[in-house]
Amino acid sequence: MASNSLTIRDNRTGKEVELPIIEGSEGPGVVDISNFNKDFKLFTLDPGFRSTASCRSAITFIDGDAGVLLYRGYPIEQLAEQSSFLEVSHLLMYGELPSPNQCGHYRALVSNHTMVHEQLLNFYRGFRRDAHPMAITVGVVGALSSFYHDSLDINNPRHRDISAIRLVAKVPTIAALAYKYSVGQPFVYPQNKLGYVENFMHMLFAVPCEEYEVSPVRARALEQVMILHADHEQNASTSTVRLAGSSGANPFAAVSAGIGALWGPAHGGANEAVLKMLTQIGDVSRIPDYIRRAKDHDDPFRLMGFGHRVYKNYDPRARILRKAAYDVLRDAGREDDPLFKVALELERIALEDDYFIQKKLYPNVDFYSGLILSAMGIPTNMFTVMFAVSRTVGWISQWLEMMNEEDQSIGRPRQLYTGHARRDYVPMKDR
Ligand code: SDX
Repeated sequence: MASNSLTIRDNRTGKEVELPIIEGSEGPGVVDISNFNKDFKLFTLDPGFRSTASCRSAITFIDGDAGVLLYRGYPIEQLAEQSSFLEVSHLLMYGELPSPNQCGHYRALVSNHTMVHEQLLNFYRGFRRDAHPMAITVGVVGALSSFYHDSLDINNPRHRDISAIRLVAKVPTIAALAYKYSVGQPFVYPQNKLGYVENFMHMLFAVPCEEYEVSPVRARALEQVMILHADHEQNASTSTVRLAGSSGANPFAAVSAGIGALWGPAHGGANEAVLKMLTQIGDVSRIPDYIRRAKDHDDPFRLMGFGHRVYKNYDPRARILRKAAYDVLRDAGREDDPLFKVALELERIALEDDYFIQKKLYPNVDFYSGLILSAMGIPTNMFTVMFAVSRTVGWISQWLEMMNEEDQSIGRPRQLYTGHARRDYVPMKDR
């Protein structure tokens, strides 16, 4: 009997099968069940995929119990403190921190693709001014594939690489255009002399009638927010990108699907929901009532920004963002911001409350990110778009990894059927 296997016995037939256990480089190993249906004529059932590994990946490692997050082995704390978003993008996409030459080449490559086709600007005018920027972004990113017929052969490595660069380069431009359109301000073109984050801020906030000076404190805070949101293993939106890409769909369509998945309030939409919740609570005196409601199963209210499927410890990203939030609020002269006070008090109370302690509900990445974005003058309905801009590099890195797999095949889960057995059609006259 091999030591690294599970023996599964079917008590209906007495049949026993050894399932190999495959160890990774870090974290839990996996049981290879790829022959399970052939061996037992059964499927495994795991709603929400709580116990299911969907793929092999070398990009991001999370230890939810220890609150550890590594990008290609580097601790998120060190990258957030010392790295840049473009450097982290290179790391996620190609597996290594870039050398000075590689960094210069990558920066130039991305800068050369920051503009969108002028025709694409017409898409924005088809939306209502009050359209949610996520609705605009999911549509426009998907439409990118209508402009690049020259490089949509996903079996061509060069096409895959240029599409990845185009997405990393253009999604900030598309996001900024969505914001400008929603506030009725003229579109601002990219400025390639600026850094990636500074350029993004310039496209968001510059207006033709005056010079726009990027605040170094806010640029650094936004860069940290973007580094922290860049990738996160096989979360719902990344799994969506992988599944869409597994059918051979082009990367623009796959990333557009990922943006749609990210929009949900249980996922990337949580940062917008956190700000709405903090505003709804309004004052520290009202926190106990909301904590009570969050614990009441009959009350749909949830403490947005708390809890995580994987982190059963403090989300390491939240810890970093907590400090960044204070820095940006102080820079904006708003360290006494009432919402920040509500957030700090809500966190303090929740971390002392037995319900949250027992269910291991800690603040997650979305709890503080909204406060930072709000302090930077970014409206709440743009928060998830900001998340999508950061996560695009994670999505495209995971897509590239999947497309380079030897045994890459279309993802096609099965089901436990609970519907009617076969029955004959009943003509209307007999119903
Ligand atoms: C992100 O997957 C990723 O990596 C995502 C992400 C990334 O970078 O891609 O980290 C980004 O999406 C962060 C999560 C943002 N979402 C929120 O902040 C929304 C609020 N959180 C919850 O919706 C919830 O915690 C989830 C969705 C995040 C996790 O849900 P799970 O793992 O399915 O946990 P669960 O819903 O089964 O909850 C376990 C228990 C339940 O109680 P019981 O039924 O066991 O009695 O905890 C309770 C829940 O009722 N619970 C909460 C709660 N979250 C869970 N109770 C109150 N407030 C909450 N926020």
